[in-house]
Formats: sequence, C-alpha cells, structure tokens
Amino acid sequence: MGRLDGKVAHVTGAASGIGEACVQRFAAEGAIVYGTDIAEPTDFAGHDFSSLDVTDEAAQMAQGARIAEKQGRVDIVVTAAGIAAGGPIHTLSVADWQRCQDINLTGTMVSIKAVLPAMLAQRSGSIITVASVEGLEGCEGGSTYNASKGGVVLLTKNVACDYGPSGIRANAICPGFIDTPMLRDTLVDGSDFKNAIIGQHKLRRFGESHEIASAALFLGSDDASFVTGVALPVDGGYNAGHAYGLGEAFGQM
Ligand SMILES: NC(=O)c1ccc[n+]([C@@H]2O[C@H](COP(=O)([O-])OP(=O)(O)OC[C@H]3O[C@@H](n4cnc5c(N)ncnc54)[C@H](O)[C@@H]3O)[C@@H](O)[C@H]2O)c1
Repeated sequence: MGRLDGKVAHVTGAASGIGEACVQRFAAEGAIVYGTDIAEPTDFAGHDFSSLDVTDEAAQMAQGARIAEKQGRVDIVVTAAGIAAGGPIHTLSVADWQRCQDINLTGTMVSIKAVLPAMLAQRSGSIITVASVEGLEGCEGGSTYNASKGGVVLLTKNVACDYGPSGIRANAICPGFIDTPMLRDTLVDGSDFKNAIIGQHKLRRFGESHEIASAALFLGSDDASFVTGVALPVDGGYNAGHAYGLGEAFGQM
C-alpha cells in the first residue's frame, strides 16, 4: 500500500530537479500526478504533463479546474518551479529583481490559488511550497532570490493561517543546496566558494532531489495530518549554525 494511495497531486517545476523527484516519488506511493513546467520533461511516462508558465494566472486557474474536473479533487500541490538569481542590489536592474519575484513568489501564490477552489470544496488539502534555507536568513549575493524565498516562507505561513479552519494544511520546505541542474548551472566545480558552501552543510555534502521529495511525501501524506504552518529545513544542518572549521582545529573529525 502506498502512502499517497488515492490522492491527486499537482507539481509545478515538474520537468527537472526537485519537482521531477516529487513526481516520481508521489507516483511510486500511489498518487495520480499532474505536472507543469515551461520546459519539456525528458520522461513523463504515465503522468499528465502540461506546458505552463507559473506566472500565467489564467493558465494556472484552468489547470487547477481541469484536474478537479477530471479527478473530482486536488489533494496536494507542490510548488517547485523557480529560478536562481541574485547579486548585490547596486548591480541589479529592477527588471531582473522583478522577474525573480514574479516566478518564485508570485508564481507560488498563483500555484496555490489555482488549487484552492478544489481544496475548499473538499475541505482538505496539503500545500507544499519549495522555499529555501535562503528564505530563512541572508547570504552574500542572495538579495533578490533570498527576498523571494523569504516571501514564500511567510506566504506559506499565512496560507496556513487563512485556510487551516477549512482543513487545508500549508508547509514550506527549505532545502539546503541540492544537486540539481539549477545548482550545477550556478556553482563552478572545484571553486573555493562551492567548497565553502559544502562546508556550511554540517553533513559536508549537497543534498539530493530525492531527499527533498521524501520530505514532501511526508507533508503530503496523512502522517503529517497535524503539521501546518511549518518552514522545514531539509538542509544537512546548513541552518543549524555557522561552521568555520573550528571543530577540525580542535581535532574533532
Ligand atoms: N537546487 C537547490 O540548491 C535549491 C535549494 C533551495 C531551493 N531550491 C528551490 O527548489 C525549486 C526547484 O529547483 P531545482 O533545484 O529543482 O531547479 P531546476 O532548475 O532543476 O528545476 C526548476 C524547474 O522550474 C522550471 N521553471 C522555471 N521557471 C518557470 C516558470 N516561469 N514557469 C514554470 N516552470 C518554471 C524550470 O523549467 C525547471 O524545470 C526552486 O524553487 C528552487 O528555488 C533549490
């Protein structure tokens, strides 16, 4: 028996990385999975995929309505679509800033809005946003990305406040640095700062997409029936505190 048997899930950013891992894991646990992305997935066999931009409100509302009409319900949404962006703000154009907020924050809001009619009608649902450890604290060069992800964390908590009385849960996953195409495109192998970032993860490695999908599986399942309004770091200890290598200096390792 799967942990999501009979549940209907919608995943944005489903063509790559964390979203793709959620699609595979949810399907393996018995869910009927719908995925959207602006990119084409390499393998979406057995699932329903639609090409869609998360910032397109009309397309998102139509997709939410289409799933509800076909399946009679929407139990889970995972909002994994997102982009990396940043730089100290004196180097940024407002257009660059706005694009990041549009996709990461407004896109998340619209993705949630699209499934709310179904969730409100059935008086249940699990909303899982993909924020970041960068939404919990600052980071050199983060700026626009951190602001967008901090917004996702508080949006999620607010959704938990607004819709808890209707039986709908909302939680944010805050991944550490996860080995996905987004990370590979951003960090050069062997660079000092890539090694420094690995060092901030107390498990001394980047995470894997399936480790984020495992957390999403828990939050989407009935095992999390009393969990709402949480920003859950899944980050190998990145957010536990600062790491300067002092443990090694004390001969701890
Ligand atoms: N990889 C990491 O280290 C990391 C860490 C923390 C949070 N996250 C977040 O996890 C989520 C997934 O990232 P990932 O690492 O899997 O990256 P990824 O690049 O592998 O996947 C992101 C997907 O989002 C899609 N996307 C981008 N803009 C879109 C748009 N406007 N409409 C629809 N789809 C769009 C992309 O096409 C891509 O398939 C993102 O929100 C990211 O910010 C990633």
